[in-house]
Amino acid sequence: SREHKMAGKKVVVTAGPTRERIDPVRFLTNFSSGKMGYAMAAAAAEMGAETILISGPVSLSVPTGVTLVQVESAEDMLQAVEAHYETADYVVKTAAVADYRPEAMANQKIKKQEGNSTIVLERTVDILKQLGQHKKNQVLIGFAAETNNVSQYAKDKLTRKNADYIVANDVSEAQAGFESDTNRVTIYGKHGFEQAFEMMTKQQLARQLLELITDKEA
Ligand code: PMT
Repeated sequence: SREHKMAGKKVVVTAGPTRERIDPVRFLTNFSSGKMGYAMAAAAAEMGAETILISGPVSLSVPTGVTLVQVESAEDMLQAVEAHYETADYVVKTAAVADYRPEAMANQKIKKQEGNSTIVLERTVDILKQLGQHKKNQVLIGFAAETNNVSQYAKDKLTRKNADYIVANDVSEAQAGFESDTNRVTIYGKHGFEQAFEMMTKQQLARQLLELITDKEA
């Protein structure tokens, strides 16, 4: 039945933003609320999957039947995802992971000074790309938040990161992407597969995305 389409499967979902510390009181982050990722985890659990939700700091409650792993930084998220990767059937990377972090974290609060200040940033590991490089039988689903050239960038990410699907949202659109309760996406897959969804709640969208993916992978 539809309810148990993912029974016997292990699904790992990442959600929310990461925090990259600058000093003990400051960090770099982004506008991800975790809503889309939590909806993906809730839908997977409802469809019968063993569901691990690896989440950056958000203020949402854990969906029923989902195991929560809380992380802070991109590096923490990488470690947590890798710990579950081997045994995962599906990995859904909804998190908005920092691409850069401060090269060094100050041990004391940085005091203000005259004039400008500079923080040197270094690259974090691209978790999705790393997973793509070590993929066995896992189905890898990435998300992409874009403000322009959505389809081109999404297709680039699909190949560059060796993902099976990329779910692209145009975050310049109202009521879509970060923080909203609704979203509108297009999913891209291998061999030119592409399907656009209407605007709907993140819960409805999560269900429809997992239905589509499980049907295609069956
Ligand atoms: O949390 P909400 O407020 O509900 O908002 C939902 C959302 C907009 C965050 C979500 O729908 C979304 O688009 N998530 C991906 C955002 C993003 O970071 O996109 P990206 O294009 O920077 O990254 C592409 C993919 O690579 C993503 O699957 C991301 O998890 C992954 N990535 C990125 C950087 C990195 N260092 N490691 C990664 O794994």
